[in-house]
Amino acid sequence: MTIGMIESIKRKFRSEGLSGLLRGAMRKIVPRRLHCYRKYLACFEGKIGLEVGGPSLVFGRRGLFPVYRVAACIDNLNFHDETTWEGIITQGRTFFFDKNRLPGSQYIAEAGNLIAQRSDSYDFVLSSHMLEHTANPLLALSEWMRVLRPRGALLLVVPHKDGTFDHRRPTTSLAHLIEDLERKTTEDDLTHLPEILELHDLDLDSGVEGIEAFKARSEKNPENRCLHHHVFDTRLTVQAIDSTGLQIHVVEPIRPYHIVVIATKLDDGRKPDNRCFLLPDADYCKSSPFLSDRIPCTA
Ligand SMILES: C[S@@+](CC[C@H](N)C(=O)[O-])C[C@H]1O[C@@H](n2cnc3c(N)ncnc32)[C@H](O)[C@@H]1O
Repeated sequence: MTIGMIESIKRKFRSEGLSGLLRGAMRKIVPRRLHCYRKYLACFEGKIGLEVGGPSLVFGRRGLFPVYRVAACIDNLNFHDETTWEGIITQGRTFFFDKNRLPGSQYIAEAGNLIAQRSDSYDFVLSSHMLEHTANPLLALSEWMRVLRPRGALLLVVPHKDGTFDHRRPTTSLAHLIEDLERKTTEDDLTHLPEILELHDLDLDSGVEGIEAFKARSEKNPENRCLHHHVFDTRLTVQAIDSTGLQIHVVEPIRPYHIVVIATKLDDGRKPDNRCFLLPDADYCKSSPFLSDRIPCTA
């Protein structure tokens, strides 16, 4: 066993206890799927999609929702040709998402400005653990909705604050996200930096050694995009998608730190009815594995 593996076991034990450790070990043997996986597979099977900020294990063969192996083709988009997560990225037909599929096209662009993508052009859009990295999430969501064809599906995965190094930070409000949209907040925004430097739980962040290195990296966020600008719980994720105008079908908060939502774009002129998901005591809040979701809110 390497030192890296021991450190990762220690981190898991600190954040999730013995039961989390055992769950993690079980997951290595039996892949876990989203509850609704079979019901919604048809939204992706044989279809053409766009991923923003991929590739992602959650969409791979052993992932929560294995879209890659059933999709006809998936393009991918990232903000730069070299990233902390993917290393060097080359534009063109270079997005290898599954061993049995031809690669999709790789684009370099901002999540909130899909310059190469036509409106209504994709059957689905995927995004995992990317939305929290953009300074303007509602702008990104509206761009993703624009490129979806009517009745096309968004499969969104966002980290739940309770399961990450964000757990000490306050959950962002929808009003704040709306303000970012209206003010046209751009990716060089560092409004949240003082709060992050004060409340980020470095013990749960394997990506950086010590506060000084974290501060230096965070100040260069426009280049590396490692910051979580905003802090999501399940309610905020639902509110953000509703505010964009998508019809929500599934909301599933899943340990250790995922919030999964499936939503579709409505035909022109139709408004979503997401009332059952917006209730303060919506079903997903009551059954959520995350404590802050289960605390009743007054909305
Ligand atoms: C935390 S990684 C997640 C990687 C992968 N999706 C996963 O789930 O493991 C965030 C991803 O979003 C990309 N990203 C961050 N900000 C972005 C932006 N403004 N536009 C496009 N991609 C962005 C990063 O380069 C990276 O690929």
